[in-house]
This record gives sequence, C-alpha cells and structure tokens, in this order.
Amino acid sequence: MEKSKYRIVLAFSLLTNLSGGAMMAGCSGSSANLASLSSETLLDNSSVIITDDPYDESGKSEKRTMDLRQVDESGQRLESDSEIEELPSVVHESLASQTLPVNETTSSSASETTSSPVIENKEGRTYANGVLVVNKKHPVPADYAPGVDPEAQAALNQLLDAMQSQSLNVSRDTSNYRSYQTQTALYNGYVNAQGQQQADTFSARPGFSEHQTGLAFDLKDAAGQLLTSPTEAQWLLDHAAEYGFIVRYQAGKEAITGYQAEPWHLRYLGELAKDVAASGLTLEEYLGVEGGDYQ
Ligand code: DAL
Ligand code: ZN
Repeated sequence: MEKSKYRIVLAFSLLTNLSGGAMMAGCSGSSANLASLSSETLLDNSSVIITDDPYDESGKSEKRTMDLRQVDESGQRLESDSEIEELPSVVHESLASQTLPVNETTSSSASETTSSPVIENKEGRTYANGVLVVNKKHPVPADYAPGVDPEAQAALNQLLDAMQSQSLNVSRDTSNYRSYQTQTALYNGYVNAQGQQQADTFSARPGFSEHQTGLAFDLKDAAGQLLTSPTEAQWLLDHAAEYGFIVRYQAGKEAITGYQAEPWHLRYLGELAKDVAASGLTLEEYLGVEGGDYQ
C-alpha cells in the first residue's frame, strides 16, 4: 500500500472524567466533564483533511489516550492505539426474553427478508420479528435501563474464551451496558468537542444507542484499547455468529447502519446471528427495517 495514500490518524489525548454518580442521577442535556481533542489527518501529498476521531464507547469514569493510527483508503484501521479505563458496569435484571431469535418462517434464509417483518412496539421499543431494533430511526425510551443481558454476557464469555484459547489479543473487560444518562454525557461531550455532525457519525444520541439495550459489547485488546487489529477483527467477522453475535457496524454499510465501521462492536442476537452473518446483510436489511440517518 502506498504510503502517500495512507491516512495517518493523529489522535491526541482524550480525557473523559465522568462521574458515575452524577450520571446515574441524570445529567440529560449537560455537557458533563468531557473533553476531547482528536483529529484524523489525511496525508495525501498536498491535501490535509481534518476529521474527528470515531472512538467513543465506555461511559463510566473514562480515561482515553490515543496517538498515531494508520488506516488505508477504505478506512480500515491498521493498528489500534486507544486506551480506555472505565468503572465496571452495573448489572441489572435480565433482558433474556427480548433476545429470542425470530421464528423459522422469517429467519431461515436471507432471501426471506424481502417480506415485511412483523413490527411490534412494546413500551416504546421496536421489535421486528421479535428482535429488538435500535438505530437512528428506532430509539428506546430514556427510562429503559435493563443493564447487561445475562444471556448475552454468558455468550460473550464463551466467545472470549475461544479467542483467548487461540492466543488472540482480547481482554475480558468490555464496554457494555450504558444507561441513557451515560450516553447523554458521552454524546454531549463529543458534540462539544467535535460538533454534532461529526459526533453523529460515531456516537449515538441518547436513547439511540444499542448499548442501552444491554445486548451490545465493545471488545478491547489486552492493553484496554478498542479492538481494531485486523487479525482479531477478521476472527470476529468469521466466528462471532457461532457465539450468537454479529459485528453490527461494518465498512461499506455506513449509509444503512448510520455509523462508521466499528470492528469492536458486537450485538447479541442468539441463534439468529448465524443466519444474519451468513446473509452478508446489515441487521436493518435482514429484518427489513428502516435504517440510515435520524428523521
Ligand atoms: N458507537 C455506537 C454507535 C454507540 O454510540 O452506540
Ligand atoms: Zn459499541
């Protein structure tokens, strides 16, 4: 790959120092104590383009440091270098009943996704063929606070066991459930630092994050950095579904998922994950629900 075509990501220090207590008490609308200094610089002979850093995640007390990162022209990251330290997430009651796979009629093959899904609204949450959908078109209520789904956590533990048994670089520590209040503080911090337009490409607005469902996990490497290594990222694409997960935000699908690629972000679907992954479709496409940008 030509050096001149490399995008050299210069990400500076991001120090977020959120008070867990304050967040749990609710800080909707506040900018919290987030400070972010980060940028991507495209070094392409004469051109220099400044964009913003796509790395958020976590939401408790958080300290992140990033330095040089290289990505190719498609945006694929070549090396990882973020560091996150966070407080343990609070585990709440089970959401297992909401993680049931769709029935056979609608899940047996990708070709069946052309038929209209059964859409249900349960207390402000959208289910398509029984699958909870959260994206920029389908939020969850602010008071929806299930905590980490225990079935998803158990499945993730199996996935992490498999990765570590194969000497892949992954930590047991993940960024998982985030409350509405935590997402508010996180998102507002990015908006304050980088502007809303850019923040919306990588951080969900409060109520629109899959992390609020307790079914999403961000994997990190042994150094506590969000997992971006090509080897580990490819393993997830190839094997996560065996454990009930899909890589939710993939390169080339940004217009549908609404977000930049996140090789570290897993969404638990249970048995359905295998069929979704095999289809090569986004969850939106597979279920036949609307994605893309906010209304
Ligand atoms: N980074 C993902 C999109 C979130 O904020 O939920
Ligand atoms: Zn995530």
